[in-house]
Amino acid sequence: MMQITPAGPLQLAVFASGRGSNFDALYQAIERGDLNANIKVLVSDKENAPALDKARKRNIKAIYLNPRSYINRDEYENDLLKLLKEQQVTVVVLAGYMRLVGPVLLEHFRHRIVNIHPALLPSFPGLQAQQQAVDYGVKYSGCTVHIVDAGMDTGPILMQAVVPVLPDDSGDTLAQRILVEEHKIYWRSLQLLAEGRVYIDGRKAVIKN
Ligand code: GRF
Repeated sequence: MMQITPAGPLQLAVFASGRGSNFDALYQAIERGDLNANIKVLVSDKENAPALDKARKRNIKAIYLNPRSYINRDEYENDLLKLLKEQQVTVVVLAGYMRLVGPVLLEHFRHRIVNIHPALLPSFPGLQAQQQAVDYGVKYSGCTVHIVDAGMDTGPILMQAVVPVLPDDSGDTLAQRILVEEHKIYWRSLQLLAEGRVYIDGRKAVIKN
């Protein structure tokens, strides 16, 4: 079994395309002393992402990189990789980052890119997971923190939280209920990494002790 990261403070890059509430929850967990990490940089592929402003307000380096100004994804990710190396990032945190990560970053950060998805994977991967759950009629949904691999929301699972789906739920009301749990399990999952407790065993993430 392979340990993902040795025990010690994580040097994080957070990737966000939108609102940035998960970024903020991580920042607050670090401030409280619940998560042993530093956020070195917030990266967005969207110029107007509120996440960029949230980072600036927190005095965290906020970088917008436009994927459209590169000839392909590899070139875009090569630039990202350069930035992450300069910032001595050890773990990449996807927090509402609306792109698939390609081979350049996956290879360099093997098992060290983490994502949060607003459903109980492997159910409802992809976009609008909360609406998918409402439309399907499941009685419970939730959120999943997982290691990123080449698939869409497919990698080894670190942690999940469950919420009920209520009869009158819309995608939005369910999303709000799930988001509360997202803000609790993301930092907890990352703290397991910071404690050096996470190992990869085939398709599984194993948490020790
Ligand atoms: C969250 O629901 C997360 O699960 C999904 O995108 C949303 C991001 O929200 N991947 P925020 O930008 O962190 O507020």
